Amino acid sequence: MCLRKVLWLVFVAAALSGATPVAAQPEGTNYDESKVPKYTLPDPLVCADGTRVTDAATWTKKRRPEILELFRREVYGRSPGRPESMKCVVTSVEPDALGGKAVRKEVTILFAGTPDGPFMDLLIYLPAEARRPVPIFLGLNFSGNHSIHADPGVTLSRKWMRARRGMGVVHHLATDESRGKAARRWPVEKILARGYALATAYYGDIDPDYDDGFQNGVHPLFYRPGQTKPAPDEWGSIGAWAWGLSRALDYFETDDDIDHKRVAVMGHSRLGKTALWAGAQDERFAIVISNDSGCGGAALSRRRFGETVKRINTSFPHWFCDNFNKYNDNENALPVDQHMLIALIAPRPVYVASAQEDLWADPRGEFLSAKHADPVYRLLGTDGLPAKDWPPVDHPVMGTIGYHVRSGKHDVTDFDWEQYLKFADKHFGRK
Ligand code: GCU
Repeated sequence: MCLRKVLWLVFVAAALSGATPVAAQPEGTNYDESKVPKYTLPDPLVCADGTRVTDAATWTKKRRPEILELFRREVYGRSPGRPESMKCVVTSVEPDALGGKAVRKEVTILFAGTPDGPFMDLLIYLPAEARRPVPIFLGLNFSGNHSIHADPGVTLSRKWMRARRGMGVVHHLATDESRGKAARRWPVEKILARGYALATAYYGDIDPDYDDGFQNGVHPLFYRPGQTKPAPDEWGSIGAWAWGLSRALDYFETDDDIDHKRVAVMGHSRLGKTALWAGAQDERFAIVISNDSGCGGAALSRRRFGETVKRINTSFPHWFCDNFNKYNDNENALPVDQHMLIALIAPRPVYVASAQEDLWADPRGEFLSAKHADPVYRLLGTDGLPAKDWPPVDHPVMGTIGYHVRSGKHDVTDFDWEQYLKFADKHFGRK
């Protein structure tokens, strides 16, 4: 194995263990607020031709499509739509799961319509008692559906898994030991008790998270004759993972147990970046939640605080589209910044969560994105973000934009979930 690959695997292992990886903090990483460079953000409410946006129609018909196109072309890459041949197969229904608290369903989404093509396994828990159709949280997971709960009835993933200490992965495959290893981040019973369903899928089902030149995962399914990798403005892995979330939503539209008009898409870290991009593109997502998404997610790129565009493009060359490399050490040339990604979600509710010790993800920069998306939310008639200044630690604010910085490190905690449930209650009109 070449040195670059070894270093990369060490880096990823550290990243996934929750620690801020040493290799990811090269000399020159700035954690000093006084050293944040001066910058001017592009104005989400000024069109490319200089016209100021003063009404909702101009936003919806002109400026929003412009911004979406810029993110597609320069940041995440263009994604295809739903394949015509795609098929969803319900593979199991257990009406008496989790000691009677849940109905468990498993659904395989055959992206090309055949079992020998790429597929994604969706695990769904529905609250046993709730009236149908139920609102649902949807999020990709890092370690397989079997990792989110010790429930022995969940199908063990047979897909390639990263070897991570303590996760029960042997020869890159999950074992029975792997069951429930990520349960701490998925309070399934609590979500169900609040009247929500939960759906999850393994992100590696859509595209395994390593740089293989886009030979595995869903990308090859869409290559034109003779094409061997995405063009510079075509999707990377984040684009593919976000696409997978939309395919889950396609399935929800066919399932009478699920309220597909009340889907909250949620993700942590790289999967938080993914949730934001999914919610920005696909307006069927009713609520979007970003947990510690950092660089390329909620954090403003121009601040160059913690992880930078160059660093992320170097460590994870497969996440964004190739055009994004133009902005390595050149953030001011970006025609967008991440507040505009949040603005694309408007007027739908969005929640941005940071963690105080997660400096790599630039908590303050995440708040500032939410704040600078606020004018778009207000133009569209919502109350936007009810905070002008960075709120104190562990003091969530919830308007149509929600935000908190919680004490502690890069992680998903019960505190985070408690806020997401409250936010969903508020916006889905539930008590
Ligand atoms: C690394 C990476 C981040 C990412 C994180 C994760 O730390 O630099 O951008 O959010 O991994 O996904 O865990």
